[in-house]
Amino acid sequence: MRSQLVLSLVLAVVLACGVQWVRAQEDEFVIESSIYEHTMPLVYFNHLAHMDDYGYDCTDCHHVYQGGENVWSDPDSDPVKCEECHNEPTTKNEKRLPLPKQKLNLKLAYHGNCIGCHRTYNHENNVQAAPITCKGCHTEKP
Ligand code: HEC
Ligand code: HEC
Ligand code: HEC
Ligand code: HEC
Repeated sequence: MRSQLVLSLVLAVVLACGVQWVRAQEDEFVIESSIYEHTMPLVYFNHLAHMDDYGYDCTDCHHVYQGGENVWSDPDSDPVKCEECHNEPTTKNEKRLPLPKQKLNLKLAYHGNCIGCHRTYNHENNVQAAPITCKGCHTEKP
C-alpha cells in the first residue's frame, strides 16, 4: 500500500516534469525575429540563467497589457512572442517614429527590456556584469 503510494507520487512528479519539459522553451537560444532583415550578428540569450542564476520572474520580461496593467502572470501558459505585438519593424532612426509606433517597435522593445535592466543592474551594484555594449550581446554565441 505504502510503496504503491510512493510509486504514484513518483509517477506524478515524473508526469509533471514531463509536461513542463514538452512545453518549456530551450534553456538557451539565439533570438531570431522574422519581422526584419537582421543587420547585426544575432543575440545569444541564456533564458534559464536569467531565472535560475540571476533570479528574475517571468513578468520581468513577458507581459500582456490590459488597461496599463500586465495581466500575464501564469508561468504555465505560454507567453506570446514579443514580435506578435511589437511588430513595427523599423531598425534605423526608430526613435524618430511617432510615440505610438515607438511603443510597438521590436528593436526598441528588446533594447528597452534587455539594456534597460542591464544598465540599472550595473548601476545599482556598481559592476559591469550585465553587457551593455553592442558586442556584449550581438555575439551569435555564448
Ligand atoms: C543587452 C543586449 C543588447 C545590447 C547591449 C545591444 N543589443 Fe541590439 N538587439 C538586442 C536584441 C535582443 C535584439 C532583437 C534581436 C532579434 O530581433 O532577433 C536586438 C536588435 C538589434 C537590431 C535589429 C536587428 C538587426 O539585426 O538588425 C539592431 C540594428 C541592433 N540591435 C543594433 C544594436 C547596436 C548598434 C548596439 C550597440 C549600440 C546594440 N544593438 C546593443 C540586444 C542587444
Ligand atoms: C530576462 C528575460 C526573461 C525572463 C525572466 C523569462 N523569459 Fe521567457 N523569453 C524571453 C525572451 C526574450 C524570449 C524569446 C521571445 C520571442 O521569441 O518572442 C522568451 C521565450 C519564452 C518562451 C518561448 C515562446 C515562444 O513562443 O517561442 C517561453 C515558453 C517562455 N519564454 C517562458 C518563460 C517563463 C515561463 C518564464 C518564467 C518562469 C520566463 N519565460 C522568463 C525572456 C525572458
Ligand atoms: C500581447 C502583446 C505584447 C507582447 C507579447 C509583448 N509586449 Fe511589450 N508592450 C506591449 C504594449 C501594448 C506596450 C505598451 C504599454 C504602454 O502603453 O505603455 C508594451 C511595452 C513594452 C516596453 C516598454 C516598457 C514597459 O514595460 O512598459 C518594453 C521594453 C517591452 N514592451 C518589451 C517587450 C518584450 C521584450 C517582449 C517579449 C519578451 C514583449 N514586450 C512582449 C505589448 C506586448
Ligand atoms: C530584469 C533584468 C534583466 C533583463 C530584462 C535581461 N537581463 Fe541579461 N542579465 C541580467 C543580469 C543581472 C546579468 C548579469 C548577471 C551576472 O553575471 O552577475 C545579465 C547577463 C546577461 C548576459 C551575459 C551573461 C549571460 O547570461 O550570457 C547576456 C548575454 C544577457 N544578459 C543578455 C540579455 C538579453 C539578450 C536580454 C533581453 C532579451 C536580457 N539579457 C534581459 C539581467 C537582465
